[in-house]
Amino acid sequence: MEYDNRIIYGDNLEGLRYLLTELNLAGSVRLIYADPPYGTNQTFTITEDRQATISRARNGRIAYADKYSRKEYLEFLGRRLELMRELLADDGSIYLHIDLKMGHYVKCLMDDVFGGDRFINDITRVKCNPKNFQRKGYGNTKDIILFYSKTPEYVWNHPREAIDIEKDPRFKNADKDGRRYTTTPLHAPGETANGRTGRKWRGMLPPPGRHWRYPPDELDRLDDLGLIEWSSTGNPRKKIFADEVKRRGVKVQDVWVFKDPQNAIYPTEKNLSMLRRIVGASSNEGDLVLDPFCGAGTTLKAAGVLDRRWIGIDASPIAVDLCRETLHDYDLIPLCADNALSEAGSNERMGQEDSRTSTTKRLFRPPLRNIPG
Ligand SMILES: C[S@@+](CC[C@H](N)C(=O)[O-])C[C@H]1O[C@@H](n2cnc3c(N)ncnc32)[C@H](O)[C@@H]1O
Repeated sequence: MEYDNRIIYGDNLEGLRYLLTELNLAGSVRLIYADPPYGTNQTFTITEDRQATISRARNGRIAYADKYSRKEYLEFLGRRLELMRELLADDGSIYLHIDLKMGHYVKCLMDDVFGGDRFINDITRVKCNPKNFQRKGYGNTKDIILFYSKTPEYVWNHPREAIDIEKDPRFKNADKDGRRYTTTPLHAPGETANGRTGRKWRGMLPPPGRHWRYPPDELDRLDDLGLIEWSSTGNPRKKIFADEVKRRGVKVQDVWVFKDPQNAIYPTEKNLSMLRRIVGASSNEGDLVLDPFCGAGTTLKAAGVLDRRWIGIDASPIAVDLCRETLHDYDLIPLCADNALSEAGSNERMGQEDSRTSTTKRLFRPPLRNIPG
């Protein structure tokens, strides 16, 4: 199916319905990243000199207001999540970013909409450095991302990350060639009823309540290659070499450090590297990625760089203007009066220097296209 990149300006309740009914995209979206307002009871503003201050203060233009009671908030989100589920492909998934005040209620809502059995992860995102909080209690440096899939068969490209192996005390042994290594058990928890990994290998059963990590022929192969270390008491363990771990990296776990950008152009703008991880892990090239609360378009940028197609929706004219400045090759679909949007003359602003990295500027400052009027 053919579809173009799109920015939809308007309430996403309407926007999501538009995608379902006008564009017939039910079951077509591989990945949704949703970063809604968090029910903070705050108004987020932006000053003209957007490099300098982005705040929740009373001054500045309102970027968006986040004023819901908990009940209103959960109703607001629930209605939209239902539509998002309809849009998801059977092998699609959704990441919902939320803070800790609402997070546990939203987890229950997500369980209702997607099914508790489709819950995959509750990712801790470290968002800032430790601060000297005044209140009685521990400082809050994290929020959470709830990751669900539509069905058990979902796109998954396990991301890996670099590890500083040089100072890692686990790799204290060296083999005859001087390669540093550590060892791990050859068995894992859980007994197999009749499987090959529950049988004797070299005359040994796995310890009670455990099974061999590999079938016997694979254990033989590893041993022949010298990849198993035998202790003086005859206990076999698998060798893991530091240089291989360094080359491969390690599989990403569920605690992520992606601090909010220092030079954000929009309140609550998220970290582009974090979105690249999400898009890379849960979609493939050419897939359609949707962000129904797209703000300054961080998800859309990540999707574009990784050769996915994308749709972003936002009700804030400031957010949509920022997307128009920094993205290219899309159709703008205004579902509400577009006179709140600036003239496409944000070209002028595009010429300005800002404090984002030169890479970001190069990648995301192409000419505006496809803008009506
Ligand atoms: C937390 S911010 C998203 C920030 C974004 N992830 C980024 O990196 O810039 C939430 C966004 O949701 C938008 N929003 C709130 N209610 C909305 C609605 N009903 N329809 C569409 N957008 C909405 C706000 O305008 C705001 O831009």
